[in-house]
Amino acid sequence: MRSCSWRCDCTEHDLAKDRTISRLREKLHSLLEQTKKAEPTKPLKPPLPTIYVITPTYARLVQKAELTRLSHTFLLVPQLHWIVVEDSPHRTGLVSEFLSHSGLAFTHLHVATPHERKLQEGDPSWLKPRGAEQRNEGLRWLRENIRSQEGGVIYFADDDNTYSLQLFEEMRWTQRVSVWPVGLVGGMRYERPIVEQGHVVRFHTGWRPSRPFPLDMAGFAVSLRLVLANPEARFDGDAPMGFLESSFLQSLVTMEELEPKADLCTKVLVWHTRTEKPKMKREEAMQKQGLGSDPAVEV
Ligand code: UGA
Ligand code: MN
Repeated sequence: MRSCSWRCDCTEHDLAKDRTISRLREKLHSLLEQTKKAEPTKPLKPPLPTIYVITPTYARLVQKAELTRLSHTFLLVPQLHWIVVEDSPHRTGLVSEFLSHSGLAFTHLHVATPHERKLQEGDPSWLKPRGAEQRNEGLRWLRENIRSQEGGVIYFADDDNTYSLQLFEEMRWTQRVSVWPVGLVGGMRYERPIVEQGHVVRFHTGWRPSRPFPLDMAGFAVSLRLVLANPEARFDGDAPMGFLESSFLQSLVTMEELEPKADLCTKVLVWHTRTEKPKMKREEAMQKQGLGSDPAVEV
């Protein structure tokens, strides 16, 4: 038997070399095909920051109607996590059932407003702040459950306002605190921050413009990172009328740092609508005759 090395040039070995080369060529070709398939056609987009919406809510005749309206808006917003906080000593069946069928990513919390802080039947609505404990409970949950590197923004959405879809895209990339106008609020057509050279310089409001942040709750969003970096920031349930928003924002941001959105605060994308309390005169009269509506039917 002849023993010759790979480098020899006898025909037998030339053939073997050719076969090896052609095998390697095929292999290279198929690897190139594979990498081509694996390569994304578009450049990679950064993941969308999550919008954490904190909504205080309380039991009343219109509650399910309000939550239905709100959830149908939120269903149209990508990457939204709804934190619903009931003003109640326990989670109610109505809200639990509602959320489980909502189709939304949600967290269901509860905390009852202490009696001395709670608005009583007949009190004027401005007497005590509403929803403060509930928003703080939502913040507590975020601080205990979400890590700051996950990127996101927090928005406090009351259950009775009206929100455009565009609003959520305006707030999504908030760095610290973003702001925009709110329609139908404070006895005016709208309130808004006034922007000069790209910065908020003052506020258009009909009442105490000297407040640190004369903004409605619906008029700002805060980055998750900022809230997690400032564990003491919270709403003061004892804040005087009109100072609830300031009690939270004061420790987080200065007016110069606010990020104006909605075309430099020239567009109204959220409305401070309020739902009329339904009258139950006939229901009560019918009940007296033993002909009231079936209480088993959820409204
Ligand atoms: C205005 C602001 O838009 C609110 O963000 C602010 O909390 C409130 O004033 C205030 O000064 O405290 P307004 O329409 O007067 O809003 O308040 P509501 O809509 O009646 O309540 C605000 C939120 O708190 C709602 O989501 C509501 O469901 C909730 N709420 C209200 C409770 O959780 N418990 C209550 O007893 C009342
Ligand atoms: Mn309201």
